Amino acid sequence: MAKDVIIACDFGSGEETLAFLDRFPDQKPFVKIGMELFYAEGPRIVRRIKERGHRIFLDLKLHDIPNTVKKAMRSLSALDVDIVNLHAAGTRAMMEAALEGLCRPDGTRPLLIAVTQLTSTDQQALERELLIEQPMDRVVMAYARNAAAAGLDGVVCSPLEAGKVHESCGESFLTVTPGIRFAGGDAGDQKRITTPGRARELGADYIVVGRPVTQAADPAEAYQRCRKEFLG
Ligand code: C5P
Repeated sequence: MAKDVIIACDFGSGEETLAFLDRFPDQKPFVKIGMELFYAEGPRIVRRIKERGHRIFLDLKLHDIPNTVKKAMRSLSALDVDIVNLHAAGTRAMMEAALEGLCRPDGTRPLLIAVTQLTSTDQQALERELLIEQPMDRVVMAYARNAAAAGLDGVVCSPLEAGKVHESCGESFLTVTPGIRFAGGDAGDQKRITTPGRARELGADYIVVGRPVTQAADPAEAYQRCRKEFLG
């Protein structure tokens, strides 16, 4: 799959999301739909955005017993989305079951990527609450390798980790990377940020960009700028 920019549509309603997408009259950006919007609007919003011709990354981060995840993935696959995800912490058995559930009767399936460790989890929480006494980067790489061994297509990670993930899991293993800001832009709550151009140099396959586009005075212009910097 070619590299691209994915816009994180972090809106609370379908109405707001569709009004935002109306601001791209000449483009059909790849969009990310997260829990906030999906839980507010349900599968209907996914179908509506799909009908408009957008590719969709449905970011619901599944984590449950293998059989439940397999069946949930079957439902998501029927929505005709392009990328879905889960937590690698659910184990290899859960990831393999997820892949099985995703396969459509015609043999196609959405791409499946894994969250390794959430960026909101720090080393202290890892050790004191999750009882994992390894450095974070080793944990992230081990989870990425588990995802690759289960047959997944890639991981969500920081652009700063993209090179290491490719080294460890192969060049074709996808790195989907949030934490993107334009040079001099407002970081907001993101800590480790990278520009679209730097993300390209670091080897990211997809960048996920939210506020730098959604909050821009001219979102279509900001999106174009982002693509230009990232895709060269
Ligand atoms: O607005 P901003 O560009 O920071 O949005 C980034 C998007 O990527 C948000 O939807 C956020 O939830 C998501 N994300 C993230 N960091 C992760 C995983 C997902 O920022 N590790």
